Amino acid sequence: MTMINGYEQSDREESLDILNLPSLEARAKQIIPAGGFGYISGGSEDEWTLKENTEAFNHVQIIPRALTNVEHPSTQTQIFGVDLQTPIMMAPAAAQGLAHSRGEMATAQGIAAAGALMAQSTYSSTSIADTAAAGQGAPQFFQLYMSKDWHFNESLLDEAIKANVKAIILTVDATVDGYREADIVNKFQFPIPMANLTKFSEGDGKGKGIQEIYAAAAQKINADDVRRIAEYTHLPVIVKGIQSVEDAMTAIGAGAAGIYVSNHGGRQLNGGPASFDVLHDIALAVNHRVPIIFDSGVRRGSHVFKALANGADLVALARPVIYGLALGGAQGVTSVINHLNDELLIDMQLAGTKTIEDVKQVKLLRH
Ligand code: FNR
Ligand code: LAC
Repeated sequence: MTMINGYEQSDREESLDILNLPSLEARAKQIIPAGGFGYISGGSEDEWTLKENTEAFNHVQIIPRALTNVEHPSTQTQIFGVDLQTPIMMAPAAAQGLAHSRGEMATAQGIAAAGALMAQSTYSSTSIADTAAAGQGAPQFFQLYMSKDWHFNESLLDEAIKANVKAIILTVDATVDGYREADIVNKFQFPIPMANLTKFSEGDGKGKGIQEIYAAAAQKINADDVRRIAEYTHLPVIVKGIQSVEDAMTAIGAGAAGIYVSNHGGRQLNGGPASFDVLHDIALAVNHRVPIIFDSGVRRGSHVFKALANGADLVALARPVIYGLALGGAQGVTSVINHLNDELLIDMQLAGTKTIEDVKQVKLLRH
């Protein structure tokens, strides 16, 4: 273990034996300090939406198919011309130093080894350049929390462009933080600095709670910001935190190159629907004009399968990967993605689907 500012970070580096992703939470709780664990695992208020995110996958079923002459299915896919070994990706997640001393650099290494795509957060524990370098050329997106200070936004975007990220994710569902009761009970404040904020006049985030961090970010975000970021970076801009057809249409109208359907893993507006329950209508409205990324509550291969069949092109998750990071570092991250992908391959075979494109054509059973 490594001690930093009185906070104990895991240094583990090992592959994991995984029964299933849900079982990782209890294992990780044993080694992540209480404040950090509460911040990672917690949702807002009574966590109804957090729980509903995973429960909602049971609202539709995959009809098993036989006599389809399928063997050795493949999870290869692509987005924006980038080839991937799997449609499973790492969602942007702040402060991964709470889980491991190498933070997002270990995550980047582990995600790259799994042939997957990683999104790095503005509020990362390691810099844009260091996180990109750790991925050794594997594809990454950069997730921007827009600051009120456009010079700061531009300096972050310049670094992201220099790091050769393939797209910018603009997160729009966290203009204030959800009511995070675990953080209140734990009086949680970030014990480690956020590398990208060190140049920011507001300080580096150390000793602050997420509420203060968000307060320094922009609250008023609109379609012009999507346009401005796309024009400044000449990169695809994916708008993250979409839960309504209206917002999806506004984002596309503003030039968004991708829609990211997410409710922030139940950490923001509690009492909102499960992210999975709004995906199908949004995908019908988007009608393949731009790719869709989906997250919130994904814990099984069948969840990935259902999200793809419901209109997603990539399926992201955060908490289980962070637990794998704490339990095994880069190798732990790889173990988590590989396990989820192995579950997806079983489901693809039993559903008679050979490719990810086949999965996207599957008609799920709806009641
Ligand atoms: C997040 N999430 C998030 N999203 C984002 O756009 N920028 C960020 O910095 C973070 N930070 C963050 C930290 C932690 C600890 C968690 C758990 C989540 C939200 C994340 O990208 C994603 O939407 C959800 O976490 C997906 O739900 P699951 O898979 O974690 O249940
Ligand atoms: C969170 C922010 C950092 O969910 O996105 O904690």
